[in-house]
Amino acid sequence: MTYKLVATMASGFEAITAKELNDLGYETKTDNGRVLFHGELEDIARTNLWLRSADRVKIILDDFDAVTFEELFDKIYNMPWDDYLPMNAHIPVNARSVKSKLFSTRDIQAISKKAIVKKMAEVYNRRNGMLPESGSTFSIEVRIIKNHAEVTLDTTGDSLFKRGYRIEHGGAPLKENFAAALVMITNWRSDMPFWDPTTGSGTIAIEAAMIGKNIAPGLNRHFLFEGFNWFDQQILENQKQLAKSEIKDVKLNINASDIDQNMIDVAKLNANNAGVLHDINFKQIALKDLKIEEDNGVLIANPPYGVRMKDTEEVHILYKQMGDIFEKLNHWSKYYLTSDLDFQGFYGKQATKRRKLYNGAIRTDYFQYWA
Ligand SMILES: C[S@@+](CC[C@H](N)C(=O)[O-])C[C@H]1O[C@@H](n2cnc3c(N)ncnc32)[C@H](O)[C@@H]1O
Repeated sequence: MTYKLVATMASGFEAITAKELNDLGYETKTDNGRVLFHGELEDIARTNLWLRSADRVKIILDDFDAVTFEELFDKIYNMPWDDYLPMNAHIPVNARSVKSKLFSTRDIQAISKKAIVKKMAEVYNRRNGMLPESGSTFSIEVRIIKNHAEVTLDTTGDSLFKRGYRIEHGGAPLKENFAAALVMITNWRSDMPFWDPTTGSGTIAIEAAMIGKNIAPGLNRHFLFEGFNWFDQQILENQKQLAKSEIKDVKLNINASDIDQNMIDVAKLNANNAGVLHDINFKQIALKDLKIEEDNGVLIANPPYGVRMKDTEEVHILYKQMGDIFEKLNHWSKYYLTSDLDFQGFYGKQATKRRKLYNGAIRTDYFQYWA
């Protein structure tokens, strides 16, 4: 059976996720901050396993116009719920509404849930009209945009940024899928030197190493579809085996440094969990003391940005050091992610390109200096 599928991602990364899907062999259509494609169960497993920049993969179960709650109830009730949901399914329902007559997400949620439960209780002969909801989770979303409703089933569960390699340590780590997208935006290839001079917990360097070695980002985590009774678990197992066989045994030249030894220790633990500890040269060193000997590399930095006045001054000194040191490198492309929108002034050079990205709720710019 072929399903209508949708990959969701942070705004600004649609083209990156679409390219990832194209590279995996899928035809895509980008629509409203998400990427649509088609696939079978095998493709659901494969895309969950392989997509680096996306948040989740969902099945579009149905879509229809709805301008009254009666209409919404009836159309949801008429869907063949027992094709997807077993009698004991745990069924969280989320709702969204944009520019629609039905705008109360609480009511959309409650009415949708009621319609699903009524239908299921009838089909499964539940005399009291209730469902036990004691089984696997089938997470449903009803989103209504301009009076057109779409009902989706999440196949992912915890967002795909949770690869399973990160230890908790506080700090301000980038999400793994955000870091992977930062790497994929660059022209880096696995035979080029790579440097992250403010590596923190190592996310960018670890994602680069996983890209370089072709390690599927989802190999060490679970997905919601593993709990679906109609999903043959062997499909995921086969995809995992295939992914393992596709890991490349290449020598990488990835370097990750930070002024803070504690962060280097954290980054090493994360890299070890991700299976790339020996693919990254970690080093505790202040940026001003860095000596980079190679040519033709890619540097990505996510430097601190100042919140308090004193920090701000220090941060601006750091940005100036970055300009002084990294602009002298031979044929390196450099990329800086910061929420300090005056970055270029302190760095001392106008970027080739600037890309607006949201790191969670924080507006940041990705300042790109191409070789
Ligand atoms: C925003 S954090 C990087 C977070 C990282 N991208 C991650 O995902 O964990 C900035 C890092 O820059 C480091 N840093 C600050 N000043 C530095 C300096 N002068 N030289 C090198 N690293 C510095 C901090 O220790 C911190 O780990």
